[in-house]
Amino acid sequence: MISQDTETPASLDDVKGWFPKVDQLLFTWFLERQERREQHGDLVELGSYLGKSAILMGRHLREGETFTVCDLFDSDAPDDSNQAEMNGSYATLTRRAFESNYRAFHERLPEIVQGPTSLILDHVEPETSRFVHVDASHLYEHVRGDIQAAHVMLPSGGVIVCDDYRSEHTPGVSAAVWEAVAVDGLRPICVTTQKLYGTWGDSGAVQDELLEWLQGQDDVWHEVQQVAGRPLIRAKGKAKAAAKPNDAAKLKKRLAEAEKRLARADDRLARAQHELDSVRNSASFRLGRAATALPRVLRGK
Ligand SMILES: C[S@@+](CC[C@H](N)C(=O)[O-])C[C@H]1O[C@@H](n2cnc3c(N)ncnc32)[C@H](O)[C@@H]1O
Repeated sequence: MISQDTETPASLDDVKGWFPKVDQLLFTWFLERQERREQHGDLVELGSYLGKSAILMGRHLREGETFTVCDLFDSDAPDDSNQAEMNGSYATLTRRAFESNYRAFHERLPEIVQGPTSLILDHVEPETSRFVHVDASHLYEHVRGDIQAAHVMLPSGGVIVCDDYRSEHTPGVSAAVWEAVAVDGLRPICVTTQKLYGTWGDSGAVQDELLEWLQGQDDVWHEVQQVAGRPLIRAKGKAKAAAKPNDAAKLKKRLAEAEKRLARADDRLARAQHELDSVRNSASFRLGRAATALPRVLRGK
């Protein structure tokens, strides 16, 4: 990861943020599926930080569609608790840094709403979006409002992705997400370590296709669980093959250490052999051996 203030990112890996590889794969899968099915509509991200997920989403924007991102960036939060989150986690964030990262990958910037996500419905019409990423405040009251806004922006087949739905430090997000499932009809499609993917439309058809795709993915583990009478897919990135050279390096180091210990033992053995030979060749040793070899009578016994 590079310092965002000084360098232009060359790849998504160079952009600072919170967007695991498995979620990059799933975003791509969901957005490409919409493309294949010629499902048109706008893209919305609530909470963009330095643009890591926005840059990937922007790759799937088609002619005539709008991508809207909403973030406070370097402006004030609407309440003290939200401001505390901003000071704690995003103190150095600026809109300029987001724009500069985004421009490194795309010619045109998205529509930027700089302000609280509670304003999003002033900028996005109901049922015009096909994909909404909810990744802004972690406070229950805010996330609840963001999910309700997503419900308004998405037509029934649209996809919502909620970040941090289960992290230890974000119980407010968990409460808001599962409330939407239990009370507001949100149907979870799949979950990863960090994100929950859902729809207010038919979750079964998309799950069948997703499972088919997951079966061919060597680097993504998955299983299906039943949750409240419905299937829910769990997907998780597998440890990367890049870990193997590390293991090989460790084994090589252990082998080299063992070889050194063997060489030291050989050395000690050679020295002991040498000392033994010198004792055997000494005059007193040979005299002693000769004396013990004399018959008893001669030795006076
Ligand atoms: C976890 S970060 C987003 C990460 C980003 N999606 C990525 O992939 O790296 C959360 C973002 O939400 C923004 N944020 C926090 N509270 C907000 C609010 N009430 N309204 C708008 N944006 C908010 C923060 O400025 C921060 O950039």
